[in-house]
Amino acid sequence: MSTVVAIDGPAGAGKSTVAKKLAARLNLAYINTGSLYRALALSAVQSGLDLQKPLPQDFLARQKLEYRGETLFLNGRDPGSALRSAECAANASLISKQPAVREFLLPVQRDAARTQWIVMEGRDIGTVIFPDAQVKFFVTASLEERARRRLAQQGEVAAGADLESVIADIRRRDEQDSKRDTAPLRPADDAVMVDTTGLTIEQVVELLIDRCHRSGVPGGDAPKTNGER
Ligand code: DC
Repeated sequence: MSTVVAIDGPAGAGKSTVAKKLAARLNLAYINTGSLYRALALSAVQSGLDLQKPLPQDFLARQKLEYRGETLFLNGRDPGSALRSAECAANASLISKQPAVREFLLPVQRDAARTQWIVMEGRDIGTVIFPDAQVKFFVTASLEERARRRLAQQGEVAAGADLESVIADIRRRDEQDSKRDTAPLRPADDAVMVDTTGLTIEQVVELLIDRCHRSGVPGGDAPKTNGER
């Protein structure tokens, strides 16, 4: 078993918020793998590359992506808020279908769990990166609710965006992420499905913590129940 709590799901489902809170409550490290795809896309744009074409091997070989704690460094620098824009998200989704990109980012993700317990969120953590994770969650919410949440997150949507345009944006990204040939977004067969529509963040976190405790993940406060359910 890998010392990993895997959290996968589509854009805007609230993965980052609950994953961060879950990690804090359990006292585990938190890794956001979307940042890897976003950072690589940012670097490719800065290098003037065409994202519709496979990124050249020599470009990939020059990229240094490294987590220092929870912060991802790209070629020695923290890219900061540049990773959070809607444009960067769309570019990340675009390059994430390239098999060479996924292959390049696989060891970076696996290395993160070598010496510690982690909560890792993404699209293929439970299916490809850590198929033997201690526990796997697939976090979803209705398209409209996801769009509403995205709209409320400053800096994550384009200027002038409204509910309709954010719905269209998320729908496009869902399609792209779940229809690609390599490591498409889908729940692992043994994932716990969590529909967060209508739930508060705290309710979702409690649900996940309870399940983590029952699955033998260490850390945090004592389980609220000790009987089987
Ligand atoms: O989680 P996010 O919105 O930051 O991810 C941005 C894009 O990166 C997402 O649309 C698809 C891609 N991605 C991926 O393919 N696999 C992951 N494990 C994480 C993100």
